Amino acid sequence: MTTEYIAAPGTPELELETPALVIDIDVAESNIERLQQWGRDNNMDIRPHSKTHKTPFFARKQIEAGAIGVCCAKVGEAEVMVAAGIKDIMITNQIIGEQKLRRLASLAGEANLVVAVESEGNTRQMSEIMTAAGVEIGVIVEVNTGMNRCGTAPGEETIVLSKMIDALPGLRYDGMMGYEGHVVANRDEAERRAGALASATTLVDTAEQTRAAGLDVKIVSAAGTGTYNITGKVDGITDLQCGSYIFMDGDYLGVFDDFDPALSVLTTVISVQDGYVVTDTGKKSISEDRGLPDVVEPSGGTVVSLSEEHCKIEVTGDAAKLRVGDRVRLRPTHGDTTINMHSHYFLIRDGKLETALEISGRGRVR
Ligand SMILES: Cc1ncc(COP(=O)(O)O)c(C=O)c1O
Repeated sequence: MTTEYIAAPGTPELELETPALVIDIDVAESNIERLQQWGRDNNMDIRPHSKTHKTPFFARKQIEAGAIGVCCAKVGEAEVMVAAGIKDIMITNQIIGEQKLRRLASLAGEANLVVAVESEGNTRQMSEIMTAAGVEIGVIVEVNTGMNRCGTAPGEETIVLSKMIDALPGLRYDGMMGYEGHVVANRDEAERRAGALASATTLVDTAEQTRAAGLDVKIVSAAGTGTYNITGKVDGITDLQCGSYIFMDGDYLGVFDDFDPALSVLTTVISVQDGYVVTDTGKKSISEDRGLPDVVEPSGGTVVSLSEEHCKIEVTGDAAKLRVGDRVRLRPTHGDTTINMHSHYFLIRDGKLETALEISGRGRVR
């Protein structure tokens, strides 16, 4: 018995069962190529964040296009990547606790793994566990360059932790990262530029001070999609961690159109009422943490609310002609959190399903 209907390749897009997370694969491939081309033109390495797509399939496409590896947020995501043969991984989050560090050690035996740290206790425990497992892991310091989330203070605190990493067995000191998440989606170009330059300069300055203290700082990694072309032009930054660029989402389309939208959620009208329709997607299949979804097709629809499994859309123009059973295409304002709710991508080329692709890293939050 099938537990979920997965359409066969060749099925027309509009015949897919809904809600369906659909990807225009030509657009996704062109976004991958566009960032890589920018990297080649500007002598900048690209290390895309795979927490957006959560699948080895897309990581492989990014690496084949020239990426030097991928970033992951969690050990569980990295396990999925390594099992599928992706061997260059940077974990941009702190991995805390003995059990997770043991899992990290077993991955470090199979792949070139680099992980971010910010505290002494975590670093010492990591060294002990790597040494006991007989492996070495690459370590970078996460520096707080202005987002005020995680990270060491720039300057002295970063240098002290860097020296400690360099001296501990089982750890290979690789450098540092700083993510300017507080400005990546700023709509004001001048503010985004000023914020990203301030963060990147802070990071590069700390890297220079750390070199002056005698350490070999190989990695100086930063940037999200909205700052790729600002941070990526700062001398001393070695690679960019952009994630959302691959599919774009409603939030980033409000920032710029450097990359094109590849991701949408196809839904079906289940009820037609006076002035509005209701479709079969809700908070369990499209996220609203960055605002309600946009109606892409037909024109004239505005999402006004989401329940768990209902989406209420006010209709004018073409949308006012919608009937029960018709399809409505929505674009999530936040791709990453929407993708994590789905079991499959439906990859569409020329209006037809090419592949139903399992999102093997979704839900791997541990
Ligand atoms: C540490 C880190 N690096 C890179 C990214 C990728 O950013 P974006 O999706 O804006 O490209 C994120 C996203 O939140 C992040 O947290």
